[in-house]
This record gives sequence, C-alpha cells and structure tokens, in this order.
Amino acid sequence: MSEEAIFKLHEDLSNLGPGDNQITLDILKSLPPLNNEALVLDLGCGTGRQTIVLAQNLPCNIKAVDLYQPYLDTLINRAEKAGVKHKIEIFCGDMLKPNIAKESVDLIWSEGAVFAVGFVNALENWRKLLKPSGMIVISEAVWLTDNPPLEAKEYWQESYPAMTNVKGLEAAANQAGYIVKQTRILPQQAWENYYQEMGNRIIEIQKNEIQDQELEECIKQTMKEIDIYQKHIGTYGYTFIILQIKNI
Ligand SMILES: C[S@@+](CC[C@H](N)C(=O)[O-])C[C@H]1O[C@@H](n2cnc3c(N)ncnc32)[C@H](O)[C@@H]1O
Repeated sequence: MSEEAIFKLHEDLSNLGPGDNQITLDILKSLPPLNNEALVLDLGCGTGRQTIVLAQNLPCNIKAVDLYQPYLDTLINRAEKAGVKHKIEIFCGDMLKPNIAKESVDLIWSEGAVFAVGFVNALENWRKLLKPSGMIVISEAVWLTDNPPLEAKEYWQESYPAMTNVKGLEAAANQAGYIVKQTRILPQQAWENYYQEMGNRIIEIQKNEIQDQELEECIKQTMKEIDIYQKHIGTYGYTFIILQIKNI
C-alpha cells in the first residue's frame, strides 16, 4: 500500500485508529495533575482526536507532532471548532525528533502511532526528552490470546510482525528503563469508532467512482483488516500502557 493512498483514505477522518475520547479522558485523569507551564507532546497526533481531549482537559498547551501536514491542517480546523486552537502548537516532522530540549517534557502522549517507528525505538528516543518525573502514555496493538487464530496471525504477521502481548510490552518497557504504572485494554467501542467511520468513508469513495488504483488497493486491504477484526474479535486489541522513567 502506498503511503499516499493511506493518507488519502484517512485525511479528514476523526479517528485514524482505534480510540475513544472517554478512555483518553479516563487515562488522563488517572495521571498526576500538571500545571499550566507543563510541556505535553502528542506524538503521531494525526487529525487530533486525542489532542483535542488533552487540550480541553489540561491547563497547559500541547505540542502536536505528525509527519503529514494535511492531518495537522484537519487537526487545526477541528481544534478551532472545539475552541482550543490557542492551546495547540503543531509541528510537522518525525515524532522521534520533535525538536524539543532534553529533560523538558512532562508528558508524552502517543495513541496508535508507535507501531510506525517501533515501541522500543520510541521509548529509547523519548527517554532523553522527559523530565525525571516525566510520563509516557502509549496505545499499541497487542495479542490478547496466547493462541491467535491462524487467519489473524497470518494477517498481522505481515502487517505488524513486531506485535506482542501486554506482558511483552511491559518487559520491553522495563528493559528500556521505565516503570509500568498501568495498562488498560481498549474496549470494542474504540474499534467501532474507527471502523464505522472508515466504512462510511469507503462507501463514499466507491459511490464517487474515484479512479485510483493505489487507493483501490488500500481500500481492499482495509476491508480485509475490518473483516479479520470482526471474525476474530477478542483475540487481539489495543492496550494503553502508562510509563514513568526509572530513576536509578
Ligand atoms: C494510526 S495514526 C494515529 C493518529 C492519532 N494518534 C489517532 O489515534 O487518531 C498514526 C499517525 O502517526 C503518524 N506517523 C507515523 N510515523 C510517524 C513519524 N515517524 N513521525 C510523526 N508521525 C508519524 C501518521 O502520519 C499518523 O497520523
């Protein structure tokens, strides 16, 4: 699948992956409070569903980073409508190099994005940015069973070979110098939010008979992903993992 086709399919969607505003808020509320001078990064922010929840519920500004400018444009439009544009600063670039001073960040938030750079790679890169008390909140795909069905296993083996389970993430985080404060599996609703909007988007594209082979291939793959999810609900999912630096 070409990156361009993936971007085209997702560009103006509110959900670029499984996620849910209420869960984002619940996780945020479970963390130690931050003051209005805190530095918070939302890395791989996409069109900003979670960025807006953070901006609405934190006293400080949020720096939102993504590789793809059109996603950031959508984010800014949405933030304006939500009345929080003034609290969001965007940066178009690599989330592994967010142009931030060392040991300055209070909270790194990253929903559904670290798969693109690797969980451990992200943790190793972000460690130096965090203050000693700094925290990381990530949502990441995981196996929920030790014996996944073959069809799901084969699909994800190709799409995301590094996918592990919650224990695997915890062990990797520990190894990378973090304490695991909390994990929480996202409910099915989080997937429905994503796949329902995506399903409608696909219908709209097909109705308009857009001639684009790459986009058609991307749609085919996405429909396969949705089909596999529906057939094998509960065997894999997304988890939040909340981490704090181990201060030795
Ligand atoms: C599945 S989307 C999730 C977006 C958003 N957090 C959400 O949950 O709706 C992953 C996002 O990560 C971004 N991304 C992937 N690799 C990146 C990188 N190296 N640096 C910055 N953003 C990246 C993509 O452009 C995309 O917006």
